[in-house]
Amino acid sequence: MIAGSRGRRILVAGVVGLGMLLAPAASLGVDHGGTSFVSGASGAGDAYFPFAGNGGYDVRHYDLDVTYAPPGPAPAPLTGRLDGEATLRLRATQNLDRFNLDLRGMEVDRVMIDGRQAREVAPPPDGETVEGLAYWQVQDDAARQWELTIQPRPRIKAGRTVRLVVRYHGDTTRPEDIEGVLYGWVTTRDGAMVVSEPEGSMTWYPVSDHPTDKATYSFEITVPEGKVAVANGLPARRPTTRQGWTTWYWRAPDLQASYLTTASVGDYEFRRSETPAGLPIIDAVDDGLTPDNLATTNASLALQAEMIDFLDQFGRYPFNSAGAIVDDDSVGYALETQTRPVYSRAASEGTVVHELAHQWFGNAVSPTRWADIWLNEGWATYAEWIWSEEQGGDTAQAQFDAVLEIPADDPFWHTVVADPGPLGLFLDPIYDRGAATLFALRTKIGDDAFLTGVRRWVSRYDDGTARTADFEVLFESVSGQDLDEFFDVWLHTPEKPTTW
Ligand code: ARG
Ligand code: ZN
Repeated sequence: MIAGSRGRRILVAGVVGLGMLLAPAASLGVDHGGTSFVSGASGAGDAYFPFAGNGGYDVRHYDLDVTYAPPGPAPAPLTGRLDGEATLRLRATQNLDRFNLDLRGMEVDRVMIDGRQAREVAPPPDGETVEGLAYWQVQDDAARQWELTIQPRPRIKAGRTVRLVVRYHGDTTRPEDIEGVLYGWVTTRDGAMVVSEPEGSMTWYPVSDHPTDKATYSFEITVPEGKVAVANGLPARRPTTRQGWTTWYWRAPDLQASYLTTASVGDYEFRRSETPAGLPIIDAVDDGLTPDNLATTNASLALQAEMIDFLDQFGRYPFNSAGAIVDDDSVGYALETQTRPVYSRAASEGTVVHELAHQWFGNAVSPTRWADIWLNEGWATYAEWIWSEEQGGDTAQAQFDAVLEIPADDPFWHTVVADPGPLGLFLDPIYDRGAATLFALRTKIGDDAFLTGVRRWVSRYDDGTARTADFEVLFESVSGQDLDEFFDVWLHTPEKPTTW
């Protein structure tokens, strides 16, 4: 049951209390054997997006099988149709009476858990019990709460792994994030641009949509013959075509945060190459780029192998492949989707090195909470600075100086970099003051300690997440300096740093 585009919309009655928004509650139940079971939390505990992610389990693998029909030619509405079957392997971390997945704007048709089919029921009022193996959906746009709740029977004991199959469908639109910016499964005239930071993956598959629950992925994406579908990782086999539909198979065996999943669809042409070390590079470039944009894109993509080699100073490239998806449509930004960033209309050199740097900073090491976003954007911007210096352009020092030229009364300085709020994730200071923080840190502790620190950062938190406090502890340890004042001034104070 769902509303989404057509009709029934279940609203959490009236006002949702703030306590509930911040700390989605767990409820208790007891089985015949006397073991107590809980409802897994409806959020991962991130204050910025209280209902993103879920509690009580850990997803190990997503197998996403989707069929997508893009919109017809104009003036047909910019709406596509998605039919999906998601198979999740998930491991309970609590004794589960119920658990949630995030799913926005899609209607669930069937839920199977370990081969048993669940019954669809209306969302039960708080505290009310439901008989047997069942599922229900809540779609509350105002609270940004989009949940699929599953009540497994038998209940799942902590430590057990189950196989969950969810079949669903929906009309695809152009979803917006909390700021009103396009994200998620963004329907385009010739396909879809799939870019889901911070919690937009729930617009196209049932997911625990928070970076703290990384998983591996496999994809079977079926599109009209002639269209190309590109996801993360490497092709698992050659595409197959039957009755006018082509299925594209991809596999992403490295742990991946949900916001970094893509399955973009368009009129792409593939280009395959390799770095000198043998890392496969797969680029998918839309055949509709303007000549100028194509020239810019070609020049930038040709530098990828060299950039990867340059970024090796932070540790080995963390995944099994690299590349780019360059779409002639635009969501207004690029995103570092794992192994294969998505670019809007063109890929500039600075943006390509930025998205490549995110493979280490953001993708291998992801933010524990969205408040820690500067750890992604600061490092990626810092990488742009040092790449530019390496190429004989502006030095990192010059770019740092340019940031410090911004007057103290400019609103630029009034963001708390390490806690910008959910509407501040992508403000300039997250990028530029974040990078300036790193440059200032390097100057303060010296090149050797800085490089040792960054390598240790990447290797220690690879495949996981880290937060600002972890960063501070690590760099104090590697430098042997007390950096409390430094971090306070740069990251926690909404004023222009003067001394540090
Ligand atoms: N992480 C992306 C980058 O490479 C930016 C995402 C911007 N998203 C947005 N909603 N403004 O910088
Ligand atoms: Zn970035």
